[in-house]
Amino acid sequence: MGIRFLFLFTVALFVTSHVTRAELMEQKGESAQAVNKPISVKAFQPPSNDSIPDDEFGKMVRLGKNIFTHTGKYAADYVGNNQNCVNCHLDAGRLANSAPLWAAWVRYPAYRKKNKMVNTIQERIQGCFRYSMNGTPPPANGETIKALMSYAYWMAEGAPTGVKLPGQGYPKLNKPKMQPDYQRGAEVFAQNCALCHGADGQGVRQGDEQVFPPLWGKQAFNWGAGMHRINTAAAFIRANMPLGKGGSLSVQQAWDVAYYVNSHERPQDPRFEGNLEATKEAFHSHQCRYGDKVGKTVLGQSSK
Ligand code: HEC
Ligand code: HEC
Repeated sequence: MGIRFLFLFTVALFVTSHVTRAELMEQKGESAQAVNKPISVKAFQPPSNDSIPDDEFGKMVRLGKNIFTHTGKYAADYVGNNQNCVNCHLDAGRLANSAPLWAAWVRYPAYRKKNKMVNTIQERIQGCFRYSMNGTPPPANGETIKALMSYAYWMAEGAPTGVKLPGQGYPKLNKPKMQPDYQRGAEVFAQNCALCHGADGQGVRQGDEQVFPPLWGKQAFNWGAGMHRINTAAAFIRANMPLGKGGSLSVQQAWDVAYYVNSHERPQDPRFEGNLEATKEAFHSHQCRYGDKVGKTVLGQSSK
């Protein structure tokens, strides 16, 4: 009762006062500056945003940046949920240890076990549209992919190519001492995450703006997205969440809360062809809860 009231009150505050995320965070005693602080000082520094050139190329770079930060607005045809690329690639894709674009740019083409082939950067970006954005991949030669490629290319200016740069992807996380646990995860969530993502995991939306992203349910990433894997989510969370306080959860807490977040229903895996067991067998032999029973629900039963 108490928590519910506090939650509703907080949401009412968000909705009625039309404040920005930075203001919201300041109200919560967070420093908005801290959010953009790179974790590793040794990481490659991408060029500053003011150095985007004022020409035809710069126009494409800017469009790519807009697509990346406001995906539902600038690439509406290809998005099927309320996520934006920047939700999992923080600081507009610049932040080390949150799968930054500059480190991605220099790694592709690369072999991926997920689809058992060498992927171009176009194909890699299409993958995030299909799964993380629960959408339809834009055509490889269309404007959306061209703009996103321009943005990534510009950001990687001066970076060594063909290597795994420090800060690429999410940092690998040690195994937890105890098996990840739903109840412990729920407690970590209530204490450290619900304030922004909501007790129901649905985040906060103001008009067209997703101030805090949903973590499960119809508007979240789908069952094929990398983030549905407990290990991937644990690594991301430990390095980057709570926002602006990366590294503050213990390794165990990060695993527990990742397990909890990913024990909720979300949109179907787009590779699903009608049989849950078959889809689980073909695509889910990793750390995830697809096909598991949680309470009365079998996860992975929802439609797209
Ligand atoms: C729900 C979270 C989420 C969203 C939203 C998302 N991604 Fe990703 N993305 C991931 C994860 C997870 C990975 C794999 C990171 C890892 O394990 O190294 C990834 C990887 C990538 C990579 C390759 C990174 C590398 O170093 O190999 C690119 C490029 C990329 N995403 C682009 C995008 C674009 C463009 C969008 C928006 C259209 C987007 N992503 C939206 C979660 C997300
Ligand atoms: C101060 C607010 C805040 C807190 C507290 C917070 N988050 Fe987040 N979280 C965000 C924001 C904002 C984003 C998206 C980043 C962006 O768009 O720049 C995000 C992104 C995420 C994502 C990836 C995006 C997605 O859409 O799936 C996950 C997973 C996540 N948070 C989990 C957690 C967990 C678990 C906790 C608690 C340990 C937590 N967050 C605490 C604000 C917060």
